[in-house]
Amino acid sequence: MKYAVVTGTSKGLGASIAKLLMEASVNVIGLARGKNQELENANLPGSYKHYQVDLVDMEQTEKTFENIISFLKEQPLESLQLVQNAALVTPIEQVGKQDIAKLTAHVHVNLLAPMVVSNLWLDAWRDSNLSLVIANITSGAANRSVYGWNAYGSTKAGLDRYTDTVAVEQEKLETGNKIILFDPSIMDTDMQGEIRSADPSQFVDVDQFKNYKTEDKLRDTDVVAKVLVERLLDESSIQNGEYYSVKDVF
Ligand SMILES: NC(=O)c1ccc[n+]([C@@H]2O[C@H](COP(=O)([O-])OP(=O)(O)OC[C@H]3O[C@@H](n4cnc5c(N)ncnc54)[C@H](OP(=O)(O)O)[C@@H]3O)[C@@H](O)[C@H]2O)c1
Repeated sequence: MKYAVVTGTSKGLGASIAKLLMEASVNVIGLARGKNQELENANLPGSYKHYQVDLVDMEQTEKTFENIISFLKEQPLESLQLVQNAALVTPIEQVGKQDIAKLTAHVHVNLLAPMVVSNLWLDAWRDSNLSLVIANITSGAANRSVYGWNAYGSTKAGLDRYTDTVAVEQEKLETGNKIILFDPSIMDTDMQGEIRSADPSQFVDVDQFKNYKTEDKLRDTDVVAKVLVERLLDESSIQNGEYYSVKDVF
């Protein structure tokens, strides 16, 4: 059986990735604080199982993934993929005005959780014959400095370096595991709504992002997810350590 674990499936890109994988007969395990009734009730070739978790809380994250790993160890696995998609863009605020609790939550969800989960994941499947695929969702913000996005740009840049480093380790260890980055570019999701609602004093480029919406420049999540899912379904085409972008396709 083919399985994929996807974080952040309650809405946005994660929900689309889960749905498209299920349509392609992949069984999906989804995680988020909220649920996704549509995926749970869907009548698709692949199944859906949801775990409610707050990725801010590392103890909860670790326990939840230990449960998922125990469940998966009972399954006859043919392939196993992990898509780390859950993230926050907030707090959008200049340095010097940051709320420490919000900053901590941001770093936990965007960077520490993927690091903790990757560590558990590679440890759990070390002695198996499975060649794992891990796809981490990044952002163009990793490569440019945007006023007010000091947290977001830093955690995405950290995720990029982390992914690249794990790829180097897996290559050297000759595990056959592949870890990649996927940049979805701008999409019409709640995250973009949060960006548009920022005050210009917190985010000087807010008008540019309002224009993306009014000028219909934000891609639909199903369209973006299709690019990643097509790549995931053709595992032999995936290069360990690669950076894939929706912009490579259109
Ligand atoms: N939207 C864009 O234009 C854009 C551009 C570049 C990159 N990206 C990246 O694409 C990915 C998906 O973004 P999106 O636009 O689909 O975001 P979104 O609509 O805001 O959805 C984010 C997902 O992450 C989950 N999540 C957030 N905090 C969580 C927590 N504490 N614990 C567990 N799950 C949590 C949310 O679920 P709950 O709230 O239910 O927990 C939700 O399912 C992110 O990595 C983002 O950085 C987005």
